[in-house]
Amino acid sequence: MLSKIYAIDRLMVALDVPDARSAESLLDRLQDSVRVVKIGLELFTSEGPTIVKLVQDQGKQVFLDLKFFDIDETVKRATARVADLGVEFLTVHAHRKTMHAALDGKRAQPELKILAVTVLTNFDLKDVQEGGSAWSIAELVVARAKAAADVGCYGVVASGQEPNAIRQAVGQNLAIVTPGVRLVGADTHDQARVTTPSQAIEQGSDYLVIGRPIRDADDPQAAAQAIVMEMQGAFDRRMANL
Ligand code: C5P
Repeated sequence: MLSKIYAIDRLMVALDVPDARSAESLLDRLQDSVRVVKIGLELFTSEGPTIVKLVQDQGKQVFLDLKFFDIDETVKRATARVADLGVEFLTVHAHRKTMHAALDGKRAQPELKILAVTVLTNFDLKDVQEGGSAWSIAELVVARAKAAADVGCYGVVASGQEPNAIRQAVGQNLAIVTPGVRLVGADTHDQARVTTPSQAIEQGSDYLVIGRPIRDADDPQAAAQAIVMEMQGAFDRRMANL
């Protein structure tokens, strides 16, 4: 029998704040409504590994969203340093060589899960075409997800519009992590390929990354709890339909 999915373990809250003080203050407001915390470029650049430890000491799992993209040796060695920090998730760009290098680098730390970023969720067709690709976004996302599955990544990062196509191409053995999630009627900010929590999970997303809708809420804890509730409903419906 398939085991129940607990939505609270599938919500990754982006701690997109400038420094440790604001991070601590947001974590204080979130209390235990959140278990997985994403540390991205802004906070890691200002605080470095000490912020990882601070979040871990609060009993949270850490997702280090550094989106590595460099030559193999550099990605491999940087991933080994991330593995030393004991974090759960790390992002790299979904290029075959980059993903291989990251998997090489994490060898000593089997708990570290490598997530491959397919096409950033703030990109639309024009952005992709400007990069020289004649493919549609869905084609690019699927090709990169196939490569990620081939190489042996734990999962991919893709918008909530693509999981169906990804599942058809690679089956169930790849976790799908979806940013660009907004509640019905909310501001989409700079995100281009946006979905609601229910839509993303109905499409097949396994984890949702949510930043501003929680960080900027009057009551971040209540916002996180409402999102977890919506996610739980969608996961339960999905399990019931299997
Ligand atoms: O505030 P918002 O919910 O848009 O935040 C989304 C978070 O997910 C940001 O921290 C952003 O860096 C990250 N992200 C993304 N798109 C990707 C990968 C990560 O928006 N493809």
